[in-house]
Amino acid sequence: MKLYCGKVNEKFINKQVTIKGWIKKIRKMGSITFLDISDRYGLVQVIADETIKLDNLTRESVVQVKGTVVARKTPNDKLKTGKIEIKCSALKVLSLAKTTPMIVEDVTDALEDIRLQHRYLDLRRNVVRDKIIFRSKFINELRNYLVKQDFVDVETPCLAKPTPEGARDYIVPTRNAPNHFWALPQSPQIFKQLLMVAGFLKYFQIAKCFRDEDLRADRQPEFTQLDMEMSFIEEKDIMRVVEKMFKHALKKTMNLEIQTPFRVMQYDDCMNFYGVDKPDLRYNLKLADLSQYFEGTQFKIFNNILLDKGVVKGFAIDQKLMTKNEFETVQKFATDKGLQIAYITFKDGHKFEGSIARIIEDGKANTAFNSFGFKTGTLILCAGKQDKVNATLGAARIACNNIYKFANPDELAFTWVVNWPLFEYDEETGKYAAAHHPFTSPSKQSLKNFDTDKANARARAYDIVLNGYEIGGGSIRITNTSIQKRMFNAIGLTPEQAQAKFGYLLNAFDYGVPPHGGIAIGLDRLIMILTKADTIRDVIAFPKNSHGIDLMLDAPSAASAEGLDDLFLQVKEK
Ligand code: AMO
Repeated sequence: MKLYCGKVNEKFINKQVTIKGWIKKIRKMGSITFLDISDRYGLVQVIADETIKLDNLTRESVVQVKGTVVARKTPNDKLKTGKIEIKCSALKVLSLAKTTPMIVEDVTDALEDIRLQHRYLDLRRNVVRDKIIFRSKFINELRNYLVKQDFVDVETPCLAKPTPEGARDYIVPTRNAPNHFWALPQSPQIFKQLLMVAGFLKYFQIAKCFRDEDLRADRQPEFTQLDMEMSFIEEKDIMRVVEKMFKHALKKTMNLEIQTPFRVMQYDDCMNFYGVDKPDLRYNLKLADLSQYFEGTQFKIFNNILLDKGVVKGFAIDQKLMTKNEFETVQKFATDKGLQIAYITFKDGHKFEGSIARIIEDGKANTAFNSFGFKTGTLILCAGKQDKVNATLGAARIACNNIYKFANPDELAFTWVVNWPLFEYDEETGKYAAAHHPFTSPSKQSLKNFDTDKANARARAYDIVLNGYEIGGGSIRITNTSIQKRMFNAIGLTPEQAQAKFGYLLNAFDYGVPPHGGIAIGLDRLIMILTKADTIRDVIAFPKNSHGIDLMLDAPSAASAEGLDDLFLQVKEK
């Protein structure tokens, strides 16, 4: 009987079986050799006596073993197959492995670059492979849910025109059109809107997206979205579909019950209370405006800022007396956002130590700290213009959690963030750009004057945030041609430029467009959180490294002179 290694159990005792798998361990004890043979279902122990030829056998070789299943004298409870072993009658080497460049076990000391260079070996490790298997199961459940709700799965092109998601495009030359280029889609945004014009009503796709942007632990140049669009809906309809879909998939794959509907937060509240647009709500450390407690302080820096219409804000950590070293770690993280921070510790309601403990008056410091309702702990402070103070304290809040580990690693704190600004101001260019993309509808209140009062215009956009990560975003779209034209004009596109870039969408809208909206969920990011992976790379079978390079393929790589000639391209020296 042919069996997978991990599927051999007591039911097969005294039966003849054949297994095939990779050798994980070879232990010789006198005349007997123990072999651990494994496949993705698990590992089984084989015992071979001296009649079985094992010369030159190496770890990670692929073998076929025939033998009889026997009960173990001393069962191993830690192993799924621990009650039995296989007494080998014949062993055949199917593929002999060289010494591997890394330890192919759950615990390995291999550096990430080596793991990525030999990703097929890395993927052979259970801890890595299990994440990819979870990914497959989870995405299948998302798909199952949407198909049951009558969503249509439609593939859209990868060779396309630049899309408006705000990152740089990957461009692709072609022999057929000298000096002209395809762009790989940053998202299927325009295609899904065209599918709504075509009357599909409910669309989804597990879509590859390509963005040539600066990389971070939660970004890849090539990533996967669960992309959705629906007609004749409002924000709440999309939110309910996403919540129910997650509820279904989390129950099916992790046996988790999650609370729905998810919490909804205003964008302004996120910034004011958490200093970021994607707050981790698993822990508190809420920012508070403490300006009133420091008015007229002798501490000149704070006083001048307050006189100059700035604010003093802060958050308090209950029971923790921050050390100087810890503070320096937090400060390094926070000052990247623009401002200096300060700290004061308190014992039993009284000022104790800290970077400005000697400078600030007792009364002012104590009342500020006591306003949080704590007696002992640390107060983190920052003063300046509101936006920068929020951003700096937002980063400090995250750094404090990194140190004290307030967030429960098993909790999933989903929240919607709504009422976003429609535009983003770019200080370098002095121009406004679309905060999401230029097809996002202004809010009902902003419809009148979004193009004249850009700083205050709001969008019918929503993000979904999980444990401090933006895992998805979407909006209700503009479907009125005159509003769309005003929008293009507001972001500095002339009618001719708008027509050249997005004419095909504008033309389509002339032939009957339903009101519609949608969302895209970043699947790599979501699965990274669900599997508690350290980086997005851990949940992608063949990821690029943190510099955007595929170390296994050694790509991107140079093109041949003939290849470039065919494409009418010349390479410029760097
Ligand atoms: P957005 O640009 O917000 O929206 O992208 C949706 C989600 O995709 C994920 N994401 C990424 N994941 C990994 N690496 C990246 N480089 C990367 N960039 C984005 C994030 C993000 O929330 N077309 C719109 C959606 C819509 O309006 O319907 C869009 O793409 O989790």
